[in-house]
Amino acid sequence: MAQKTVIASGKGGAGKSSLVAGLGGALADMGKRVLLIDGDIGLRSLDLILGCAENTVYNWADVILGRCAPEKAPLPIGNLFLLTAPLRDAPAFTPDAMRALVAHYDAFFDHILIDAPAGVERGFQLAASAAQNAIVVSTPDAVCVRSAAAAVDELYAMELSPVLLVINRFKAQPVAKRKLLNIDQVIDSAGARLIGIVPDDPDVTYRAAMGKPVLPESPAGMAYLRIAKRIEGEKIPLKHLDKM
Ligand SMILES: Nc1ncnc2c1ncn2[C@@H]1O[C@H](COP(=O)(O)OP(=O)(O)OP(=O)(O)O)[C@@H](O)[C@H]1O
Ligand SMILES: [Mg+2]
Repeated sequence: MAQKTVIASGKGGAGKSSLVAGLGGALADMGKRVLLIDGDIGLRSLDLILGCAENTVYNWADVILGRCAPEKAPLPIGNLFLLTAPLRDAPAFTPDAMRALVAHYDAFFDHILIDAPAGVERGFQLAASAAQNAIVVSTPDAVCVRSAAAAVDELYAMELSPVLLVINRFKAQPVAKRKLLNIDQVIDSAGARLIGIVPDDPDVTYRAAMGKPVLPESPAGMAYLRIAKRIEGEKIPLKHLDKM
């Protein structure tokens, strides 16, 4: 049985898709079988981040609508698999249909990571409906943290558990100068247990622009690996924030 995790944020641009790609890559590098599902109907991005936009043939709507056998739809990219999102919404995309979709892959993967769209409405609800647990991503600014808290509440209301928190784009300097919230303030406001902190790292954007995975030795790459290890049950202490 796969561990089925939705990655959500509330506010757009918090770093959900980057985390799905980076965390998925780290889990795959640890030898896990990983399927990434892009849940962002109409605004998919994982195919670009992973550098396979030209190669995608099927998306998950083709499976739900019976146009493609489930086993033919995921695209292999290195040691990962991607099921990309359709370009348009359809009434056939219901929570039950999403659960049936994910069930096709349950036995074949260790982890299924579902990239939710921004917001807490229909697309978010659909993405979350197929998951058992969640990671909410927030940057350390007050607006993003408030929307993360709304997402955490919605996910608990949908009975997902656990709902964990990743603080993304952390910079030690502005926190020290009190321009951004500190780690405790983000955790208290978001209302979820922290599973990792990803530093602000330009490599994330540069590598995505090239359609290449982040380098494992980059600050973000190392942070993704630490989160992957914690997910796998290893006890990895939080890194000293002044060294980020
Ligand atoms: N740790 C990081 N350091 C620096 N830049 C980052 C980091 N994480 C994400 N970014 C950048 O932030 C931007 C938004 O990231 P991303 O697309 O992953 O967010 P998202 O939450 O999926 O957005 P959307 O809500 O539009 O789906 C991208 O340009 C990405 O490269
Ligand atoms: Mg995204």
